[in-house]
Amino acid sequence: MVDSEIREDAAEPVHVRAPGKINLVLRVGATAPGGYHRLATVFQAVSLTEDVSATPAEGISVHTTGRWAHLVQDDETNLAHQAATLLADTCGITRGVQLDVVKNVPVAGGMAGGSADAAGALLACDLLWRTGLSREELVELAAGLGADVPFALTGGTALGAGSGGELTPALARGMHYWVLAMSEQGVSTPEAFAAWDRNNPDPPEHPAVPDDVMTALISGDPYALAKVLVNDLSEPALELFSGLDAVLEAFTGTAALATMVSGSGPTVAALAPDHPAALDIAESVRAAGVADEVAVVSGPAPGARLLESVHEEEV
Ligand code: C5P
Repeated sequence: MVDSEIREDAAEPVHVRAPGKINLVLRVGATAPGGYHRLATVFQAVSLTEDVSATPAEGISVHTTGRWAHLVQDDETNLAHQAATLLADTCGITRGVQLDVVKNVPVAGGMAGGSADAAGALLACDLLWRTGLSREELVELAAGLGADVPFALTGGTALGAGSGGELTPALARGMHYWVLAMSEQGVSTPEAFAAWDRNNPDPPEHPAVPDDVMTALISGDPYALAKVLVNDLSEPALELFSGLDAVLEAFTGTAALATMVSGSGPTVAALAPDHPAALDIAESVRAAGVADEVAVVSGPAPGARLLESVHEEEV
């Protein structure tokens, strides 16, 4: 019997919050031997989050509620389910868990919502089962679940290399305010990468984050940051999602400093000069009626973390 089996579960359900992300920079390169593309990216975690509660139960199950729950499968294919199963298998845990996920991050929206569910489930089950794994070991397990899962655990602003999971915290000052225009209809990430491949027959071996991005991040100045945002998957997202032009168009004439597609899309993230301006921009975009949901968020946000109670508000 392994050590973790003789420990007791935590007495109360465990509540964890994990962030969605946007990519401030996303440069795509050639595919590596595993079939994944080499990326040079800058992630920023934002205050649009997933809440994951873990309660002792027979077997492993997931129940999703919230804004985007109708688009989620609550079966073994769910990344939160996969995360709990991987952790149980790795640590020899035979006890079960019920995972209750409140889904605020859009599905297939380019914001790594599924990855946030996986990261939240990993941390919540780890705390419930008291596995004794180190943070590094959890991050390693996270990498096995998907390229964006390690970042959902660590949060903040970070450079991502390799397939996106090799993280280095970025020196970034200040808080930025973003307006997100989200859609019910998703973009498949593999399809976005396949479209990029078709358009880029001679891809760079080693994509890089431009130096001026780091300068802009250190300055904390949204006007400087607006000038360096770049996403190589914008073009594929525009090809795959016919309504995207209209969403981007809705931001013209507003105070937005820059607009960009988030990850593989179709979420559009617009950088605002400050919080009041972000609220005004959101109002205009809502009035244009081109997005299913419009939200103002801030970044950087913390990585997956324990909440004192399910009612804890974002601070
Ligand atoms: O890791 P994740 O499951 O989020 O990736 C989804 C898909 O996106 C992969 O199966 C792959 O087709 C594509 N992808 C890629 N290169 C990356 C990350 C993702 O080709 N660096």
